Amino acid sequence: MRVTMIGTGYVGLVSGACFADFGHEVVCVDKDRSKIEKLRAGEIPIYEPGLEALVAENVKAGRLSFSLDLAASTPNADAVFIAVGTPSRRGDGFADLSYVYKAAEEIAEVMDGYTVVVTKSTVPVGTGTEVESIIKRTRPDADFSVVSNPEFLREGAAIMDFKRPDRVVVGAEDDRAKKLMREIYRPLYLNETPIVFTNRATSELIKYAANAFLATKITFINEMADLCEKVGANVQEVARGIGLDGRIGGKFLHAGPGYGGSCFPKDTLALVRTAQVHNAPTQIIEAVVAINDARKKKMAERVIEACGGSLVGKTVAVLGLTFKPNTDDMRDAPSLDIIPELQKAGAKVRAFDPAGMHEAQGLLQDVQYVDGPYDTLDDADAVVIITEWDEFRALDIERVKSTMKTPLMIDLRNIYRPDEMAEAGFDYHSIGRPS
Ligand code: UGA
Repeated sequence: MRVTMIGTGYVGLVSGACFADFGHEVVCVDKDRSKIEKLRAGEIPIYEPGLEALVAENVKAGRLSFSLDLAASTPNADAVFIAVGTPSRRGDGFADLSYVYKAAEEIAEVMDGYTVVVTKSTVPVGTGTEVESIIKRTRPDADFSVVSNPEFLREGAAIMDFKRPDRVVVGAEDDRAKKLMREIYRPLYLNETPIVFTNRATSELIKYAANAFLATKITFINEMADLCEKVGANVQEVARGIGLDGRIGGKFLHAGPGYGGSCFPKDTLALVRTAQVHNAPTQIIEAVVAINDARKKKMAERVIEACGGSLVGKTVAVLGLTFKPNTDDMRDAPSLDIIPELQKAGAKVRAFDPAGMHEAQGLLQDVQYVDGPYDTLDDADAVVIITEWDEFRALDIERVKSTMKTPLMIDLRNIYRPDEMAEAGFDYHSIGRPS
């Protein structure tokens, strides 16, 4: 199969490299010249474990290439995937579809022979129909189908998620397109991965429903954590106790500072807006969005409270800045809400993150960035764990204690045990667990 992938962001690059690894001939196209030049030189513009090696292997095998020129790769392609960004539109929270529609127009101009045009970007219900109209308008003679094939991969685990997914969702309106999509996913199909065929609108909605449901699960357990704190219960045990019920499931029940990232905040908001437009408001998701926004801000209050009500003249060490571990992505990261509040309350903030500091520098003012976790702690009055990078799980606690001015830890990801920290002499605060 010959595949053209438009967009070399997270989804495009990972999908392109994985499809090449399945044995297809893949060209990844992007308009950003410097990105394409970097990729051709073997440089990966995003931080994703395993991706550099996967790209290198497939480029070497001649199955994967990078191009600025859509017109050169598209006429030969069996399928053209649209994997461009769909950011939140400023002001109203709708998904901005201008890049998707532009790509559709450009594909239409150069396509040749039967082509399946696949939207892999996260797009609101109805986008596939609009893409179809754009192509028909631009090229009335074109022989094509428009398919929705949302992606469910997580940053930091993207390759594994792509190659061993729980399911693949394909929204296709005709058998010709279904057959071609089954062929593209043949290695997974043979592996007995469920391939869920639906109509296009259903497939488009599945993506938003999945992300909104996961965001709801997180928000639910975060509220339970708040209640646990009031009544002396332990949220991790509540999560385990309910999660073992197969109807609930144990995943995405880790209480923390609120969800962030490039997907949940944007997609929940877009779903709220779509539902409002169709006069079928999703009150649960509206509540989730509001609760999560407020929660990220509230986390700073916890730190201030743990520090005795004032941060004036105090130094706070921050471990972890990215929205989750194994990524350099700072989009909607809780640290972006928490740190400015700490600074407003008078704190001097010293921070370390294994991958996010470069990105963070443009987003957070007056933070002192250092080279390692222990460097944040020098004479610090408190340490706050915002992201659960593995390297923060195994700190030498004695060294942490002796480096700090006061042994005070606010662990917003529950990576340490309250009993062990108390024994080590720490004033230890976590989320939803008795100290
Ligand atoms: C999410 C979904 O998990 C993917 O299935 C989806 O494909 C992707 O969005 C997307 O739409 O592109 P991602 O944003 O990479 O993936 O990250 P997650 O691992 O889902 O984490 C999102 C946020 O939720 C993070 O801030 C994380 O810390 C938080 N989270 C997650 C919790 O607070 N508790 C949990 O139990 C799980």
